[in-house]
Amino acid sequence: MSDEEYYTFIQPYADAKEVLLARLNVLKHNLYRGSSGVPIHNIQSRIKTKKSLEGKLARKGKEPTVMNAKDYLQDIAGVRVICYFVDDVYNLTNALKRQTDLIVIRECDYIRSPKANGYRSYHVIVALPVYCLDGMEYFPVEVQLRTISMDFWASMEHRILYKKSERENREELEEELKEYADMLVKIEKRFEQHSEGKLDLAGPQEGAPERGAIAGE
Ligand code: GTP
Ligand code: MG
Repeated sequence: MSDEEYYTFIQPYADAKEVLLARLNVLKHNLYRGSSGVPIHNIQSRIKTKKSLEGKLARKGKEPTVMNAKDYLQDIAGVRVICYFVDDVYNLTNALKRQTDLIVIRECDYIRSPKANGYRSYHVIVALPVYCLDGMEYFPVEVQLRTISMDFWASMEHRILYKKSERENREELEEELKEYADMLVKIEKRFEQHSEGKLDLAGPQEGAPERGAIAGE
């Protein structure tokens, strides 16, 4: 495909992505839970470059045409939502799915069922209506929702291993990364308990005032 074809082709995908970002922003304010803060840490988004789009079509054994990109790729527009806690991921996903003009094309809950390598995230491909001069059409956006801890692991794993087949000691490294994924699940659970106020790091120190008591009384 020519550069011009590419730019014309991706425009409605970029528009769909902007619509989704606006909706996520509204939900972020709605899910604000007073003292415990906002559910979203940050949001990243991207449109597949021409090179990456053609590369993915080639991996699927398809000619690099605009028609094939439209028919075979659902991650041309991508949004990554980094939340604080697992609950935030589910609250946000459920709120998004309740929006009646949005179509869920595919969902994959790698939080409930992590991948064998330890990867966790909630993936959902949604189609959003994009209105233009001659009517409306739905365009897909791939949304990945994850916690800060899942994002830390996935970003490092992506950097070190993902899609790199030629690495030495690959198996040892995979095993080590899986261990880290398990450790991060534990750490994340501890943070959850702290956030709910269910964990005391240590009992009251000797001589220290009891919790709730005013020092000096
Ligand atoms: P892709 O061809 O990579 O898009 O995979 P897919 O179409 O089978 O979909 P899947 O939902 O499994 O993965 C989509 C995206 O999730 C990937 O492009 C990555 O951004 C992310 N992802 C999935 N698995 C992993 C993983 O094991 N490690 C990391 N770091 N990211 C992953
Ligand atoms: Mg992808």
